[in-house]
Amino acid sequence: MSVSRPAAVIVLAAGEGTRMKSRQPKILHDLCGRSMLGHVLAATGHLEPERTIVVVGYGRDQVRAHLAEIAPGAETVVQADQRGTGNAVRQVAETAGIPRGTVLVTNGDHPLLRGEIFAELLAAHEAGGNAVTVLSVQVPDPHGYGRIVRDESGDFAEIVEEKETTPAQQGIHEINTGMYAFDGGLLGDVVKRIGSDNTKGEEYLTDAIAILRGDGHKVGAAIAEDWVELQGVNDRVQLAEARRMLNERLLNGWMRAGVTFVDPRTAWIDVTVTFERDAVIEPNTQLRGATHIGEGAHVGPGVVLTDTTVGAEATLVNAVADGAEIGPGASVGPYAYLRPGTRLGARAKAGTYVEMKNAVVGEGTKIPHLTYVGDAEIGSGSNIGASTVFVNYDGVAKHKTKVGDHVRVGSDTMLVGPLTIGDGAYTAAGSVITKDVPPGALGVARGQQRNIEGWVERRRSGTASADAAKRARGEDAERSEHRKD
Ligand code: UD1
Ligand code: CA
Repeated sequence: MSVSRPAAVIVLAAGEGTRMKSRQPKILHDLCGRSMLGHVLAATGHLEPERTIVVVGYGRDQVRAHLAEIAPGAETVVQADQRGTGNAVRQVAETAGIPRGTVLVTNGDHPLLRGEIFAELLAAHEAGGNAVTVLSVQVPDPHGYGRIVRDESGDFAEIVEEKETTPAQQGIHEINTGMYAFDGGLLGDVVKRIGSDNTKGEEYLTDAIAILRGDGHKVGAAIAEDWVELQGVNDRVQLAEARRMLNERLLNGWMRAGVTFVDPRTAWIDVTVTFERDAVIEPNTQLRGATHIGEGAHVGPGVVLTDTTVGAEATLVNAVADGAEIGPGASVGPYAYLRPGTRLGARAKAGTYVEMKNAVVGEGTKIPHLTYVGDAEIGSGSNIGASTVFVNYDGVAKHKTKVGDHVRVGSDTMLVGPLTIGDGAYTAAGSVITKDVPPGALGVARGQQRNIEGWVERRRSGTASADAAKRARGEDAERSEHRKD
């Protein structure tokens, strides 16, 4: 749909959102990796408005800081006292100014909106030649919304807020979505004429409709088809519901693009996550931020990834990764934790109870069990034995360990950094390695074993162990007797 660029978009975001019972302003609450305000701005952004003006009030420092991150081009206007939606637009008129041309006004608490809906509203507004066009929709439960009141001939007459409705008006199911296209030239004037003589003592933006109509201007209501995406969020129950619907929309899009979600009810993804085809996402998996899943990769069950890249055909089970790069064909888990700066090469393995951070691992290197790898660089084709610890912290500073190609680190080795293990070297199981091991050498650093014969029978006599030992030594003696025969 081609519509002209709006002269401005005004987003009303000054309210506290008392029903959220929260420390943070309602519109900063997150759904699928984006704030409610972020979702609204993403939708209005599709229209490429000449100006985007956000009215801030409650928690404005927080909201401004957030806007600086997500929409640095947006202007803000302060509404110090939240005296209603009409008053919010009036602050814009009195400070930033409202441009001529079409101005879109929208509530900031409708996170499921798509850009298309605004485009449809603008198209209806332009086609009707209206002073204002309200986006309305039929809802099963109109409770809490402003009602669209029509005259005898069915023409849109005014919006009546829930609290001001007559019993007959309460039965109206066509509601105001809180999205409007205005003639900017008229909007600046009309918001100054809105009174506050109502139940809440607030200036209702919705009163602008009756005023404009009274002035003889044309007002219209464009009826949207899908009420679901137009729902506002006022409390955390509605937030959860909106999040579920948004997630479902995202998953459906990816499924149509060739991604399998085995259980869409327990797969949660952010709007910023991307996939290649034939990726398979198992139940109870959460993918966040800039995570990317490669072609044919198998992720889950029970995986949580944040800002993590998964290569083609890699597999992850019961794993948590944050800021990691997992190479093609690599395998992670079950029960692995990859922290920022982990880079697993192609076909490398971080197995069970393995934690890694700031560690680069070469192609085909395996770290199968019970291991901590921190501040390390490991070459290709190496094997790190069970229970190895890269001892990177001396209590004050962090130190790096380098392990070469085709190295075999024995089980239960402490690699005390700073340290270098050369290509093709081995370390003996149970060693505390504090000095470099040259290429091809075996590093051994452990006490020699000595066996104290008969100790258990002497010092633990009468125990089951002592009895077992005695029997075994008797049998040994007998066996050597037989051998003599
Ligand atoms: C508003 C509409 C109602 C509509 C509903 C749709 C009015 C008077 N009513 O009601 O007709 O059906 O949205 O969801 O407009 N805000 C400010 N400053 C204020 C008050 C609110 O910026 O002084 C902002 C809020 O942050 C919010 C938006 O305006 O983003 C809507 O405010 P809210 O109090 O939620 O209005 P509703 O009662 O839902
Ligand atoms: Ca609302």
